[in-house]
Amino acid sequence: MDVDRVAVIGCGTMGHGIAQVSAQAGLNVLVIEQSTEALARALERIEKALDRLQSRGKLDSAAVVRDRITGSTDVATLSDRQLVIEAVDEHLETKLDVWRSVDPVLGPNTVCATNTSSFSVIGQAMVTGRAEQFIGLHFFNPVAVMNLLEVIRSIASSDTAVATGQDFGRRIGKDIVLAPDRAGFIVNRLLLPYCVDAINAFESGFGSIEDIDTAMRGGCGYPMGPFTLLDFVGLDTVFTMTEVMWTEYADARFAAPPTLRKLVEAGFLGRKSGRGFYDYASDPPRAAVHR
Ligand SMILES: NC(=O)c1ccc[n+]([C@@H]2O[C@H](COP(=O)([O-])OP(=O)(O)OC[C@H]3O[C@@H](n4cnc5c(N)ncnc54)[C@H](O)[C@@H]3O)[C@@H](O)[C@H]2O)c1
Repeated sequence: MDVDRVAVIGCGTMGHGIAQVSAQAGLNVLVIEQSTEALARALERIEKALDRLQSRGKLDSAAVVRDRITGSTDVATLSDRQLVIEAVDEHLETKLDVWRSVDPVLGPNTVCATNTSSFSVIGQAMVTGRAEQFIGLHFFNPVAVMNLLEVIRSIASSDTAVATGQDFGRRIGKDIVLAPDRAGFIVNRLLLPYCVDAINAFESGFGSIEDIDTAMRGGCGYPMGPFTLLDFVGLDTVFTMTEVMWTEYADARFAAPPTLRKLVEAGFLGRKSGRGFYDYASDPPRAAVHR
């Protein structure tokens, strides 16, 4: 199915980027948020991103792209959508509640996709009446910059639903890989043990937060060190990933180190809360966790 009308539910770090790139590709985009305040913040964030692109000469008209996006807090407005992408918090009950409320509103051919980092795709699909039309579309942060899109086929996904996801991904300019419905898919299956091990290394005295980041940037050519990356992703999201992947694989490589757990308990969630492994009140950010 060729998709012209897409919806994004949850318009935070990931959702606003998915909405933005979809609108830039010419699609009609409906954004759903949980409150009018969150919706206003999300739309402003997209507008700022589009204005920045225009001022750098990378976009002809921010206004034309912005006009393709509408917002609502009412899931009843989803009834004409061909593809619905969920990007709410990495919290299973929240996602399941969203799918339960959205499914009855959608047309019979609508394809549903979750942007989850770790939860089972089939586990979410089964609370809808359309398991065969349910896939994973896993974007990367920041969505407007990162080229990859993992398309996840669950054990029940139809070929048509998978092809719809792949065609949509190509249309918005992403490189596509097909990934299995296993916790973490491809990228996080490999990336999470690396990030967990960086915290383990810090806890056991291999180096400071800054030195480990500097080492991995300079020594491996990575664009950011593991602690900057962890803060960028969001420590609540990372913590949930460790729990889900530990449950699925029973492998210590995925177990949350104590420091990660304590930071989340403290509400220090990384960039989005202003503090995580680093404190973002200072410029440049200073390490905020010490042994
Ligand atoms: N942050 C990353 O680097 C990253 C990368 C890939 C995938 N993901 C996944 O994307 C999803 C979203 O993560 P995020 O980092 O954007 O989170 P976020 O906290 O930045 O944004 C979540 C948004 O969902 C909204 N929301 C919550 N409940 C809602 C509801 N019932 N209806 C509508 N909106 C609702 C919140 O208001 C918020 O704006 C998660 O599943 C996460 O695992 C995140």
